[in-house]
Amino acid sequence: MAKLKAAVIGLGMGYNHLLGYLEHPDVEVVAVADRRNDRQERVRALCEEKNIKLYCEGIELINNEKVDILSVAVPNDQHMGLTIAGLEAGAHVLCEKPMAMNAAEAVSMLETAKRCNRKLGIDFSYRFKPQSFAMKAMVDSGEMGKIYFAESTWLRRYGIPGLAAADFNTSSSKGGGMGSWFFDKKQSGGGPLIDLGVHRLDLALWLMGYPEPAWVMGSTYAEIGPDAAKAQGLEYSVEDLACAMIKFKNGASLQLKASWAGNIKENELQTTRLIGTKGGLLQKNINEGYTYEVEFFRTENGLPLDCKLHEPAPAAPSAYQCFVDAVRDNTDFLVDPQDAVTVMQILDAIYESARTGKPVEL
Ligand SMILES: NC(=O)c1ccc[n+]([C@@H]2O[C@H](COP(=O)([O-])OP(=O)(O)OC[C@H]3O[C@@H](n4cnc5c(N)ncnc54)[C@H](O)[C@@H]3O)[C@@H](O)[C@H]2O)c1
Repeated sequence: MAKLKAAVIGLGMGYNHLLGYLEHPDVEVVAVADRRNDRQERVRALCEEKNIKLYCEGIELINNEKVDILSVAVPNDQHMGLTIAGLEAGAHVLCEKPMAMNAAEAVSMLETAKRCNRKLGIDFSYRFKPQSFAMKAMVDSGEMGKIYFAESTWLRRYGIPGLAAADFNTSSSKGGGMGSWFFDKKQSGGGPLIDLGVHRLDLALWLMGYPEPAWVMGSTYAEIGPDAAKAQGLEYSVEDLACAMIKFKNGASLQLKASWAGNIKENELQTTRLIGTKGGLLQKNINEGYTYEVEFFRTENGLPLDCKLHEPAPAAPSAYQCFVDAVRDNTDFLVDPQDAVTVMQILDAIYESARTGKPVEL
């Protein structure tokens, strides 16, 4: 069988897509694109070695290359346009999270994928962890019983993308911030909620079996980010902390919290907790980093018992590997794009509730 032709647009997070595709034996990477010189320089030697064509503009790549698989890893305001162009050009598209700026854009991406009969995957990369797969297996085995409560959190003390920690000391002029599209609402659609919360929301919902949301109550704050950015002569137009309660039609509830800045102990705290009638599960990042542990809690013969997933956990396949496999075998990718649309509907409702101060029905 001929190798699948792949291309990647955007070489920040997209650099990982490129490396992921290069590792897959059934893929030939034919082109990449990035507007930034430093990002082009980063891959120039690799492109020469592997005969990969290097473009500046994503749309130029789409118009000139016929590929089977296209990754879209650019700022959020361009997800919809490049994804739709890629699908219409005949590619199966793996788009970065968040799916889009809002639910309306996400729906038009999904409709285009259906009309063009192409796969659309969203890179909810935190599903593709051994600890997440282990949690899903526990839930699916029925050992949790009925899940009625979940709590999912990604809180940073100092961590606004594009602003160095020194920028948080607003009396200092020594900050190293470079500025970034992440805190420009027109390019990002929102702050830590749409950037970090989106991952933890999807993870909790996936584990819960994507129950249908009934209503949402949310709050957003921008108490630290604007001054930190201003100290660097930059504008900050999104929240720096968000929290929400999501109520589902099956009666379950989910609490969600996300921050880029907040006076907490940890620099980086990621947790997803599920409470069920027979057991509880907790995933937490280790030492404030990007590795995870999972614990399972239950009561047996009147005894409270805890058990922990053994480390190192068995390796899990990456989103890139799974997306290629799904295209090659014409099977479903682990992330159903309808899930990502539901996530966008909930995020829209949280922002709307924060704006109006009222619960929002879905
Ligand atoms: N799944 C994850 O864990 C994860 C992690 C980080 C970022 N992301 C997502 O990936 C996307 C990109 O984030 P990032 O951190 O890489 O941002 P980034 O700013 O570091 O990189 C984006 C790159 O896209 C390039 N670009 C922008 N528009 C382009 C165009 N039209 N044509 C060609 N190149 C273009 C920019 O030059 C830049 O190099 C965002 O949607 C973000 O939310 C996901």
